[in-house]
Amino acid sequence: MNARVWPVRCRGVSLESFPPGFVWGVATAAYQIEGAVTEDGRGPSIWDTFSHTPGRVALGETGDVACDHYHRWPEDLDLIRALGAGAYRFSIAWPRIQPAGSGPVEQRGLDFYRRLLDGMRERGITPFITLYHWDLPQALEDEGGWRQRDTAHRFAEYAGIVADAVAEFSPYWITLNEPQVSSIVGYAEGRHAPGAREGHGALAAAHHLLLGHGLAVRELRARGGGSGVGITLNLSPGVPATDSAGDADAARRHDLLVNRLFTDPVLAGTYPDDAAEVWGGLTDFSFLRDGDLALISQPLDFLGVNYYRLSHVAAAPVSPSPSPSASDVGVATVRVPGAEYTEMDWPVEPDGLPVTLAGLRSRFADLPPIYITENGAAFPDEVGPDGEVADPRRVAFISAHLDALARAIADGADVRGYFYWSLLDNFEWARGYEPRFGLVHVDYATQVRTPKASYQWLAAHLARP
Ligand code: FCB
Repeated sequence: MNARVWPVRCRGVSLESFPPGFVWGVATAAYQIEGAVTEDGRGPSIWDTFSHTPGRVALGETGDVACDHYHRWPEDLDLIRALGAGAYRFSIAWPRIQPAGSGPVEQRGLDFYRRLLDGMRERGITPFITLYHWDLPQALEDEGGWRQRDTAHRFAEYAGIVADAVAEFSPYWITLNEPQVSSIVGYAEGRHAPGAREGHGALAAAHHLLLGHGLAVRELRARGGGSGVGITLNLSPGVPATDSAGDADAARRHDLLVNRLFTDPVLAGTYPDDAAEVWGGLTDFSFLRDGDLALISQPLDFLGVNYYRLSHVAAAPVSPSPSPSASDVGVATVRVPGAEYTEMDWPVEPDGLPVTLAGLRSRFADLPPIYITENGAAFPDEVGPDGEVADPRRVAFISAHLDALARAIADGADVRGYFYWSLLDNFEWARGYEPRFGLVHVDYATQVRTPKASYQWLAAHLARP
């Protein structure tokens, strides 16, 4: 693990010293970069099905080729090394390991990730492995997907298979990436795979994802736990648009839907008191069984936090449609006057990062150490006539967020690392290839990688003694 000091100065605040051993990394996910979707026995995932369904992804784009990382991974690891990052967060594609989601194991899939891990070891890069970044084997979805309790058991079995295969690399383990997005965006809003709009099914999916997390933690611990076991949650505190009671209540419902539905079971072993009030009409909560919450709330070595923005919200009419999505529970997102917006139409709000961390500390007494496992921004980056990719807005974005993070740490937040999303421009889910989050530009026609100015800027800081 590298102990880096970033002598970055921005907005007048010195970032002279992050804590010793602070981890600097970059993040990616399998379906967004690998391509090679039929190679070496990989089975189809829900994202293959979804992206190949007309109308689901912008411009009909798919992850079939993506960044062709499956073949170009040595070059991509070289880019991480040359950046000076000490850690790489990547995900393992479940359908490469168990093409049908259960049963036979595909050795060629395991071999691919062992080669990747070997390549990281050779380059001195510490692995943070995400076991589930949304690519559920389609065969499991055909049997009900995350609506079904059995999927949680299948996930734990897969976690054990992977852990056995790569134990010698002693990785950090992240069980799930953003279960809120997998469940609510996938099964309630229908904007992500599998594209469902359900009430009970979406809440059951949320619970079974968390149960899968708990069962996987048990499997990973039984195998020594690698360098540490955690989960990554996307957190975005709700900010009422006005001081009206209605907007405050909308912010409460937003926090329940996006943040508390996941933080509370994982960190405190409870579901929020207002869950039944807000969703009682959609579900009888019969998916919750004795002992589940104890499994879900097992102690973790770390909590991964993905922070992109705050959520400015106002009260909206409650929809009669049977789904727990934001619009259905009376929450409307409002624009922030004067704020800078990224290509995702997300406001740039570095000060929300300390707010998010302070919120966690105020709500949970025994908070594990935190890694910021994703933070980043998409801008319309292009390779200029001089062959350079000038992305000053990304440099400003990163420096402002690091400045805010340094303040949070100075205030007592126990944050051990920061991963920029993403190493490469990649397949941004339902938005296709248009939003470019990378430190490295990818020309999808040629697969040529061009480090952007932000990459050079980070490399210069990471290289300093
Ligand atoms: C997060 C996802 C990640 C990427 C970023 C922009 O929600 O975890 O895969 O799409 O958003």
